[in-house]
Amino acid sequence: MTVTTPTPADTDWTAPLGGTAVLAADYDTHDQQLLRLYALGKQRQWNSDSRLDWSRPVDPDNPLGMPDSFVWIAGSDLWDKLPTAEHSVLRRHAAAWASSQLLHGEQFSLVAVSKIAQTAPEADAKLFAATQIMDEARHTEVINRLLTEKIGLRYGLTGSLASLFENVVQDARWDFCALGVQVVLENLALATLTVQRDRTTEPLIRSLTTYVMQDEARHVAFGRIMLRRTYRDLTSAELREREDFVVESCWSLREGFVGEAIWNTLDYGAQECIAIARTSPALRQYRRRLFMRIVPALRDIGLFGPAVRDALEKMGVLGFAELDESPADSLDALDAAAEELDRSERAARQAEIEQIAELGAAAEAAEGAEAAGAAEGEGAEGAGTAGATDPAARAQNVRETRERRTSRTNRPNRVTRVTREDPSDQEPRR
Ligand SMILES: [Fe+2]
Ligand SMILES: [Fe+2]
Repeated sequence: MTVTTPTPADTDWTAPLGGTAVLAADYDTHDQQLLRLYALGKQRQWNSDSRLDWSRPVDPDNPLGMPDSFVWIAGSDLWDKLPTAEHSVLRRHAAAWASSQLLHGEQFSLVAVSKIAQTAPEADAKLFAATQIMDEARHTEVINRLLTEKIGLRYGLTGSLASLFENVVQDARWDFCALGVQVVLENLALATLTVQRDRTTEPLIRSLTTYVMQDEARHVAFGRIMLRRTYRDLTSAELREREDFVVESCWSLREGFVGEAIWNTLDYGAQECIAIARTSPALRQYRRRLFMRIVPALRDIGLFGPAVRDALEKMGVLGFAELDESPADSLDALDAAAEELDRSERAARQAEIEQIAELGAAAEAAEGAEAAGAAEGEGAEGAGTAGATDPAARAQNVRETRERRTSRTNRPNRVTRVTREDPSDQEPRR
């Protein structure tokens, strides 16, 4: 599939790197929670080639298999007036835009967490960051593969994410990276992934989102552990700097995440579409999911002074501070869900392989019987003909029968096709 890029994305996004690289001298002081996350990070590495079934086609008119409400102008008068073919175009562009922001966000995380590995003072934090860097490489790989093989469209980085990227990589303090990535960006990703996992009708999307969410839950937990501990020792002036940064980021994401590039690309009247999108029930629900995660995290890490509370109240989301983490969103629950999905998908794949192998074996047996019958028939026919007694004619019959059998043996069969999915090629069962 050829990937087209509706918005210019031929220039890289750049920002100067701030900070000081640290080689930790203390290898002996450990945090048991960080060690557990690092152990999980090592154990839960997965291979997207074997874990995800990329051979499965998706609906080209709705590649993410989402309900129409996922398109933020769906249900409006403008949507109702558009021909059905345009609804398909819109679904594809909405899928491409959302997936493109995830893609750039994953690469953003990769770059920013590399900076955490370089600048964080603790050895354990560097080790965990190394597992996260590999996770983000895998996420970048799978979402890019989704865009190139299944959607065929890729959008550029939206302005609010570009600002967040510049702010966190150029700040010299390592915790700004953790705040921007593990508290803001990854909760944004989890809000998007949760909606897709829960609403999609496409098995590939459900699997992909479940496995990525398993990793993201570890990353978010790492941010909370590190920042909670770090912010306990900061002065009120230092905390205020972090709070200002968070407030600015939250406003930017709340107001800027409306898919502006989609509406500028499609010729339906960009301003009208943006206005409809801003008030759409789907976008409101999406923001709720975002702030349901960010607000309790801010309270937990100790960034919950008057400036933050005031801003959250203006956004109408301060009430989420009283929410505890939903049991379904906990690290253990997301981890268990992904492991269960892996087990059931492996069992389904194995059953499919065995079924196809049985069909292949049955077909081979039938072909063998057919060949034997044909040879016998040819012999019987030959015996009744004048040519049958001719040694040259009999030799010709034998040659032709042998050639037919050889060509059957060399024909690609159904079992050969499934060897690519041989479970022995896959990761060991955990
Ligand atoms: Fe990620
Ligand atoms: Fe992540």
